Amino acid sequence: MNDDLTYARFVEVESGGVEETLELGRRIGGVLEAGDVVGLTGPLGAGKTQLAKGLAGGLQVPDERQVNSPTFVLVNEYEGRLHVYHLDAYRLADVEELSSLGFDEMCDGRGVVIVEWADRVVPAMPEKTLWIELFPTGETTRRLRLRTRSTGIVEKLTAGEAGQDKACEMLYDGWKSADGLEGPS
Ligand SMILES: Nc1ncnc2c1ncn2[C@@H]1O[C@H](COP(=O)(O)OP(=O)(O)OP(=O)(O)O)[C@@H](O)[C@H]1O
Ligand SMILES: [Mg+2]
Repeated sequence: MNDDLTYARFVEVESGGVEETLELGRRIGGVLEAGDVVGLTGPLGAGKTQLAKGLAGGLQVPDERQVNSPTFVLVNEYEGRLHVYHLDAYRLADVEELSSLGFDEMCDGRGVVIVEWADRVVPAMPEKTLWIELFPTGETTRRLRLRTRSTGIVEKLTAGEAGQDKACEMLYDGWKSADGLEGPS
């Protein structure tokens, strides 16, 4: 459950290339449960969609390649072990347009919600959101900062094995208290 919202926690992990971003996404997607919401932020080309592909892979959406930024519709939906809603707030006029899509129901429903450019619709994002900020640090390198008030999500991400690669290891044991940290909350 994600209703245990206490203080914010954060962890920073480094991605050395697209494959590592996909792997991080799969690792995170692998522990997501119904009602989890992921807000992705970062500049154009930061890797939000690549990360969304990994998240979908971890949610057992059959073909990660079908995961692309919604273009002709405002919400892409995929069927994995859970229903996945994939939105891109870049294309939304405002928070009202998001509401009119039934966003609150999506967030409280039986699926998982992934929002690219979520910093554009901060007031609409639930408290429990797992925020993932992507910072380009080089042509093929990215820093990912995960941040959430949901202790449930942190527990899920740190349960089990540390993971195979270095980035997943950081995700496993690098969580710190984030109160006072700047950026979307
Ligand atoms: N470590 C990395 N992680 C993710 N993407 C990377 C990495 N290194 C290079 N890239 C490249 O950066 C680009 C990221 O594109 P992507 O569409 O995921 O960005 P985006 O943040 O969704 O952009 P937009 O705001 O336009 O939707 C891809 O071309 C990808 O190959
Ligand atoms: Mg994108």
